[in-house]
Amino acid sequence: MTEWNERLSVPREPFIPPVVWVDDPATGGFAAVSRETEGPRWRELVNADEPIITQVDDGRTTSGGVGLQPSSSCSQPSLVANMLDALDIRQGHRVLEIGTGTGWNAALLSDRAGQAERVVSVEVDPHLADSARQALKAAGYTPLVVTAEGTEGYPPEAPYDRVIATASIHTVPRAWIEQTRPCGLIVAPWGTDYCNGALVGLEVHENGSASGRCGMNVAFMRVRGQRRYFLDPDEVEQLQADRTTTVRSGAELFDMTAFPRAAFTIGLRVPHCYLTTEDLDDDHRMIELHDVRSGSWAQVAMVRGADSFEVRQLGPRRLWDEVDAAYSWWLHADSPAPDRYGLTVAPDGTHMVWLDTPNSDNRWSLAH
Ligand SMILES: C[S@@+](CC[C@H](N)C(=O)[O-])C[C@H]1O[C@@H](n2cnc3c(N)ncnc32)[C@H](O)[C@@H]1O
Repeated sequence: MTEWNERLSVPREPFIPPVVWVDDPATGGFAAVSRETEGPRWRELVNADEPIITQVDDGRTTSGGVGLQPSSSCSQPSLVANMLDALDIRQGHRVLEIGTGTGWNAALLSDRAGQAERVVSVEVDPHLADSARQALKAAGYTPLVVTAEGTEGYPPEAPYDRVIATASIHTVPRAWIEQTRPCGLIVAPWGTDYCNGALVGLEVHENGSASGRCGMNVAFMRVRGQRRYFLDPDEVEQLQADRTTTVRSGAELFDMTAFPRAAFTIGLRVPHCYLTTEDLDDDHRMIELHDVRSGSWAQVAMVRGADSFEVRQLGPRRLWDEVDAAYSWWLHADSPAPDRYGLTVAPDGTHMVWLDTPNSDNRWSLAH
């Protein structure tokens, strides 16, 4: 395949803001890198095939502060190229993007669609939308950038031939399907609370349903409104928790938390279960599961070289037991990789996930 940089017709640098954010091991958060004071470092970040964090904490934290949560980024260039290829835009297509961010992808979409006027990009954050409009204008592109809630699409310019989301979803908004022409395509990073996620390409059908297959691993930030949240059990809750010991080995626990192994499947089978993993030091790793809705949590403390690990669980759900059962299902189902799954969204909004074919015996509806 052609190198990613040859498939991207618009340079990235003019779209990157003067302050970007990087992991800061000293604070465990994110620290600003300024073009003005750290030009070479800023430029190195811009030219790497890596995502760049362009906003933290929905803009509440500014240069000099410690960022806690990335809230906008310019995606990894090779991934941008792969997503544009998956979207299969033809000249003259009308395209809707959700998540304008820096505006770089909107420029690339405008190039591929042939006429910028046929591209609409929706950004929920007014400051980001303004900056993107300015960067696009300076670069000579004129797509319509709308400040709005992207899960509602943008009805005035519908129907679209192509819809692309650059923030991830666990539920495909009804509006995107309704605003896409029959035979049109929706490409979105799709994941569950447990595993975030796979690129899904859905074809929209005459009857108002949409279906398609899952593909490569993509880890995007969630659309606002579908963000995931976790619990932080205090000492009393720690003492109240059930304590058991897992019979799984360290290698199996790795399987259970890795996307290409069982994590994607577990996420599809265990709803509302947010997974976090943290390496405490070289020998200790903490796996945590959280269901904010029911107030249930579980923790597994891994120790390098041990054969079994302590599990703590509290709340109406026994999340670790559910995850363990889903892992057994994955083993019995011949360890399916993520790209064996597909998704059908029915006109009533039901999300049906299937293995290999839409009518497979292995299909089930996802709880929202
Ligand atoms: C990964 S960034 C997008 C990158 C962008 N396409 C680019 O070329 O720079 C995700 C963006 O989605 C936006 N976003 C999140 N939730 C949204 C929503 N509900 N509606 C519209 N935009 C949203 C975020 O503010 C963020 O700017």
